[in-house]
Amino acid sequence: MSDRYIEFANSSIGHRLVGALGLPSPVRLERWQAGRLRPIEGALLIGGGPLAEKVGAFANRLTDAIYSYGTDPSMATAWIPGHGPKLKAVVFDASDLIQTDQLKQLREFFQPLMKNLDHGAHLVILGRAPQSLSDPFAASAQRALEGFSRSLAKEMRGGGTLQLIQVGDGAEDQLEGPLRFFLSPKSAFVSGQVVRLDACNTQVTDWTRPLSGRKALVTGAARGIGASIAETLARDGADVILLDVPTAKTDLEALAARLGGRGITLDICAEDAAAQLIEQLPDGIDIVVHNAGITRDKTLANMTPEFWDAVLAVNLNAPQVLTKALLDSGTLQDDGRVILLASISGIAGNRGQTNYAASKAGLIGLAQAWAPLLKARGISINAVAPGFIETQMTAHLPFGLREAGRRMSSLGQGGLPQDVAEAVAWLAQPGTGAFTGQALRVCGQSVLGA
Ligand SMILES: NC(=O)c1ccc[n+]([C@@H]2O[C@H](COP(=O)([O-])OP(=O)(O)OC[C@H]3O[C@@H](n4cnc5c(N)ncnc54)[C@H](O)[C@@H]3O)[C@@H](O)[C@H]2O)c1
Repeated sequence: MSDRYIEFANSSIGHRLVGALGLPSPVRLERWQAGRLRPIEGALLIGGGPLAEKVGAFANRLTDAIYSYGTDPSMATAWIPGHGPKLKAVVFDASDLIQTDQLKQLREFFQPLMKNLDHGAHLVILGRAPQSLSDPFAASAQRALEGFSRSLAKEMRGGGTLQLIQVGDGAEDQLEGPLRFFLSPKSAFVSGQVVRLDACNTQVTDWTRPLSGRKALVTGAARGIGASIAETLARDGADVILLDVPTAKTDLEALAARLGGRGITLDICAEDAAAQLIEQLPDGIDIVVHNAGITRDKTLANMTPEFWDAVLAVNLNAPQVLTKALLDSGTLQDDGRVILLASISGIAGNRGQTNYAASKAGLIGLAQAWAPLLKARGISINAVAPGFIETQMTAHLPFGLREAGRRMSSLGQGGLPQDVAEAVAWLAQPGTGAFTGQALRVCGQSVLGA
């Protein structure tokens, strides 16, 4: 469903009216277009501590226009506030800030930039996980980065985003993959996030087809977010297997044919679903995306056992049972990726969604608890928690709820299925193997559960 308010707010009359009345003024977000090669089309500014140099080593694969500010000017052209170009991307290494008085470097670095950012600028701060530091003052300084990042993300204009990446020991040389995602329009609807990056054995070799040679299964792939995930994984080189209920067979098979993949019609709640799935995947699978999901909203006072059971069965029980069966049978291969479609409803809670929120929170818990057990096999398991995404599911919401869902975020709009798909495709890459047990929100920094 299209968001007519964005069209209005970006028309010449609408723009003036929205400004005069102080209404939210969401901008049209820039998305990744097929055929694009470079993650950044514009100027990249790099600054801060020792990791800046690590980023500088591969920056020319991200863009031609590399600038430095506040660090060794020999690394790149010096950027001069008010004279340099508008910035499309910024990386600041704050990983060596370990005392309170050093935190002023954040203000000193970012303040001159904020009025010199291009439309849709993507900013990344690099830090360390506070829990990995034994010195309480150092841990406190690194935790301070979270408050700073989440607040500055809320001050971004023009569709800009900002994230904090906590770089683990050994992951210092593996920043290219996350920065290709977080500094590009692939992360257009991700903002204000704090993610942990650990070291990983496998790395992407061909950035134009990072999933080449990988087999991916996507459930609920006939429409909406699932269809977009299948398209994006195929774009990135994966062989895709699309699964949906038998009634969705026509759409499923048409999409599978277009993507050069295969369709499986199966109800994931069927008693023999696991056995049927394993039989249909004789060559094994590398990536499993549990996207199929349903809502049956009612306040708890009016919740029927059927509504409760159906949601828990599709959204939580089926991903548990199927993943376990794929693991136990060896169908899910080493270095595999499991991605669970959760929701910010599972983080914040939502009136009328006790069943849905319980199922989605359960998925986040599943990823957290299973991740350490799967690490030895190089398998990662993560949740992606979308906020308000424009799909058939949200088109059916009452007007007021739909408008609130769209506007109550830093980006002031709903996301597109593609935004969720890009996050899933990034988590499916070989190099993100040590990003595990986490929940990545794709919600435009929604205020819900923030
Ligand atoms: N749309 C949003 O704003 C939003 C927000 C947060 C989370 N999500 C989650 O993202 C996922 C996809 O959402 P969507 O909006 O694309 O939904 P959708 O209703 O458009 O698509 C869901 C798909 O899952 C399939 N499915 C349902 N039950 C199934 C079963 N038993 N076996 C096999 N397939 C089954 C459906 O046939 C459908 O094709 C869901 O898990 C949803 O909870 C969506």
